[in-house]
Amino acid sequence: MAALDAARLGAPDPLAAVGLVPTMGALHGGHLSLIRRAAAMTTSVAVTVYVNPLQFGPGEDLARYPRDLERDVAVASEAGAHLVFAPEMEEMWPEPPATTVSVGGVGGLGRRWEGAQRPGHFEGVATIVTKLLGLAGRCHAFFGEKDFQQLAVIRRLVADLSLPVAVVGCPTVRHPDGLALSSRNAYLSADERAVAPRLYAALLAGRRAVEDGARHPGDVEQAMTAVLAGEERWALDYAAVVRPDDLSVPDTVAGELRLLAAGRLGPTRLIDNLPAASPHPEAGPHPEEP
Ligand code: PAJ
Repeated sequence: MAALDAARLGAPDPLAAVGLVPTMGALHGGHLSLIRRAAAMTTSVAVTVYVNPLQFGPGEDLARYPRDLERDVAVASEAGAHLVFAPEMEEMWPEPPATTVSVGGVGGLGRRWEGAQRPGHFEGVATIVTKLLGLAGRCHAFFGEKDFQQLAVIRRLVADLSLPVAVVGCPTVRHPDGLALSSRNAYLSADERAVAPRLYAALLAGRRAVEDGARHPGDVEQAMTAVLAGEERWALDYAAVVRPDDLSVPDTVAGELRLLAAGRLGPTRLIDNLPAASPHPEAGPHPEEP
């Protein structure tokens, strides 16, 4: 991505000169919304297409992950990308990395929710994203709220490591029936596709419970699980109401929160999330003792 140095050279704001949009390809409307946002905010937009083996666990869908680089290049350019970086494995890692980036430690940000369901997943994401940010240099980097925990992990690693990057979170793009766009939707059978939006319906039920003043996180969780309880095809992994920064479960439901849900429809794993605002104000920090 040395071409990006030219874009930064002499730019009035070198941070705004380059927009980086990391992806694993199979680009859909969600990815394209990130590229369009990058094109609106920065001068040179680089899209990376790399199916990162480090973030797939054994038995996950690495081998069958959809790939179509020719189409990706065409739709990325149409959406405003100036450069598509699609390295082969050997180009990315001439030898396997000896360095791993881990965010949050035991029980922390990268180990709960998706991190607990997919051991090693966020280490794989954090390691590749750190490398891509290193290759891109000073830039704005665009990530989707669709993967809310991933966005939180990346924000944290950029802050902790003082990387010269402005992280921009972009809203989730959905189908008209509420299902979030995802490359993995392509795996769904027609029957599974028909019940896939129930995950979003569960999140909406959770949001209603929060807005109606629920006090206990368990009650919000219950409102979400109830929606999927009758759906035989759905196997829920978790549904939770969390603090939006570190994704921990609060003692009581108050202030600005995030609802997270994930589960399996047949062999396909889907995740989604929504913001929710409680009518109860968040208890501020304890006043200083005089
Ligand atoms: P991938 O799943 O290809 O997603 C690339 C980017 O698109 C991520 O930031 C993701 O959150 C965003 N995205 C996906 N679906 C979206 C939707 N419906 N609406 C808005 N944004 C959406 O996420 C990854 O790849 C990888 O983990 C990566 C960050 C590239 C590291 O390998």
